[in-house]
Amino acid sequence: MNKRIYNFSAGPAILPTEVLEKAQSELLSLNGIGMSVMEISHRSKHFEPILESAKQGLRELLSIPNNYQILFLQGGASLQFAQIPMTFLSNSTSADYIVNGAWSEKAVKEAKKFGNVNVIFSSKESGYKSVPNQEDLRFSENAEYIHYCSNETIDGVEFKYDLDGGNVPVICDASSNILSKPIDVSKYAMIYGGAQKNIGPSGVTLVIIRDDLIEKVPKNLPAMLDYRNFAENGSMPNTPNTWGIYLISLVCDWLKAKGGAAAMAKLNEQKAKVLYDAIDSSDGYFRGHAEREARSLMNVTFRLPSEDLEKKFCAEAAAQDLDGLKGHRSVGGIRASIYNAFPLEGVERLVEFMQDFNEKNG
Ligand SMILES: Cc1ncc(COP(=O)(O)O)c(C=O)c1O
Repeated sequence: MNKRIYNFSAGPAILPTEVLEKAQSELLSLNGIGMSVMEISHRSKHFEPILESAKQGLRELLSIPNNYQILFLQGGASLQFAQIPMTFLSNSTSADYIVNGAWSEKAVKEAKKFGNVNVIFSSKESGYKSVPNQEDLRFSENAEYIHYCSNETIDGVEFKYDLDGGNVPVICDASSNILSKPIDVSKYAMIYGGAQKNIGPSGVTLVIIRDDLIEKVPKNLPAMLDYRNFAENGSMPNTPNTWGIYLISLVCDWLKAKGGAAAMAKLNEQKAKVLYDAIDSSDGYFRGHAEREARSLMNVTFRLPSEDLEKKFCAEAAAQDLDGLKGHRSVGGIRASIYNAFPLEGVERLVEFMQDFNEKNG
């Protein structure tokens, strides 16, 4: 019973089969030591190289400059929504936020608990279908930072450029498109994301943070909410998610063997094109949610003529081993998440299914 199906889940999401096989082969005995990675001390000589390899792998894949720290935290990207303003914002300062989907909206809600928030762009009224152009953005004078989400997982809209904040530090929630393409890390003060889409399993939050931002961290924060503490202690002021970090190191090895972020970008563009072409050539039977220029390469969101048909679509697809297609509970519709590990053949199978479904139900 080791059959694998096509898993379109938005996250936790598909992991590369080779990674799971490697983890399986080492589950009882890591490198022949007679213990699994989950049973050894995080301070042991067996775990040290794993942590290092995960960090180095990410540094190499994303060309992260040396003046950035790579941290593995817990609490998910959701905790970052609070930890960022808790650390860098106060009642006497303000930060700019771009709101182009459900997750950046949540980030604003948390930030308002700590200080003043200027929403400098919101596409809420128009249903979260777009992202702003860089030229149309005006940052506030004296903003402590600007926050945005590079790929809105629920709505399926994605920035196609690295935001340039000028003098304002840019902080980006890249939970659902990190590692899917090369990015210019030097444009950002901080990039973060839950691991459970393109990086590894749930339970680890990746934070890439520039040294000068760490210097701004106040000295009186609770230890577990203190970026400086994590940076100074190599992500291990306490027990980290050792299993998660181990899988991240394996995912990095897999990505490097596949040609890295540039190779992924090519493949991701190809996969998304196959799917968006099927939507666009359906004479309106399938309706893409996002505006064309903002279409996410990771989360393809679309509607059918009715909710009943959407239900039927998901049920029949699942029966054909195309699982996880139901849109997020807050918006409905269909969402096909096609992260790095998702194969082109799976997208082609979905397109065949869509055409067949349209013929029978259109
Ligand atoms: C873009 C984005 N930000 C934040 C989150 C929240 O992440 P977590 O569940 O790790 O807190 C998600 C979860 O799917 C997400 O897609």
